Amino acid sequence: MADPFDFEKPARYAVMGNPVAHSKSPRIHAMFAHQFKHRIEYTAIQVDAGGFAQAVDQFRANGGDGLNVTVPFKQEAFRLADHLSERARVAQAVNTLKCEPDGRLFGDNTDGAGLVHDLEKNLGLHLKDKRILVLGAGGAVRGVLQPLLHRHPALVVIANRTVSKAKELAEEFGHYGKLEASGFEALKGKHFDLVINGTAASLKGEIPPLPLNLFTRHAFAYDMMYGEKSKPFLDWAALHGADQVADGLGMLVEQAAESYLIWRGVRPETRPVIEKLRAEG
Ligand code: ATR
Repeated sequence: MADPFDFEKPARYAVMGNPVAHSKSPRIHAMFAHQFKHRIEYTAIQVDAGGFAQAVDQFRANGGDGLNVTVPFKQEAFRLADHLSERARVAQAVNTLKCEPDGRLFGDNTDGAGLVHDLEKNLGLHLKDKRILVLGAGGAVRGVLQPLLHRHPALVVIANRTVSKAKELAEEFGHYGKLEASGFEALKGKHFDLVINGTAASLKGEIPPLPLNLFTRHAFAYDMMYGEKSKPFLDWAALHGADQVADGLGMLVEQAAESYLIWRGVRPETRPVIEKLRAEG
């Protein structure tokens, strides 16, 4: 923890992951800090497999104040935290660590809040009473289920290539709202107002084998990845009846804003940051 009365030293934050070289987080947090005229230093630290706990220790020993944690260390960060927010406990994953003055490490997960903020605030969607399809049943999806269900959609269906994993999630999160598990083929004949891609299929340029006529008349398709990686699914969705599509850049900025709030007690304006990042390409 940096000495709050040491005006010479900026507060220190970083994102840890692997790979992390192309992370937009340092740029996003620099823009946030500029809004408040906060003096912060935010770096990207690539960590090797097996080296996460040591890297966190070293960061703290060097006076670090807070960390973002990305793939593949979110579960490890969950185990490392001394205490957790409820949403991190439910997600069993941590993307935000705060080094507290008493030496304890607080773990939170802002991914789901980031997604819901982007959908509702930036994209103007009302999730209440909507039929939502979530594709995938990995860590990315686990992190967003509870915040989505808290918005009282009519139904959330989790569809996954490995159906057993979707079923496990549906069982675990079922008490937060109306939640069903499915395979891709069994979606035939069903219609959704919002389809969220949380699979890693796009990384291989693939899209899940979805039936046609999946979308209702004014349906929205969303990909939790952004830029080129979101294109295969969003192009497919636009071609097959989605009225509007959006990538996950807004989610990235919103989850970062939530992290900033945890660390510094103020929530930055996200819209100008999203616009700037879009303009920068
Ligand atoms: P993450 O933490 O990013 O969610 P993960 O836990 O490895 O990563 O999960 C990846 C998700 O993408 C899983 O739901 C996976 O489906 P399986 O559970 O059946 O493996 C899904 N996925 C990956 N490649 C896919 C593909 N080509 N088609 C459909 N789903 C795919």
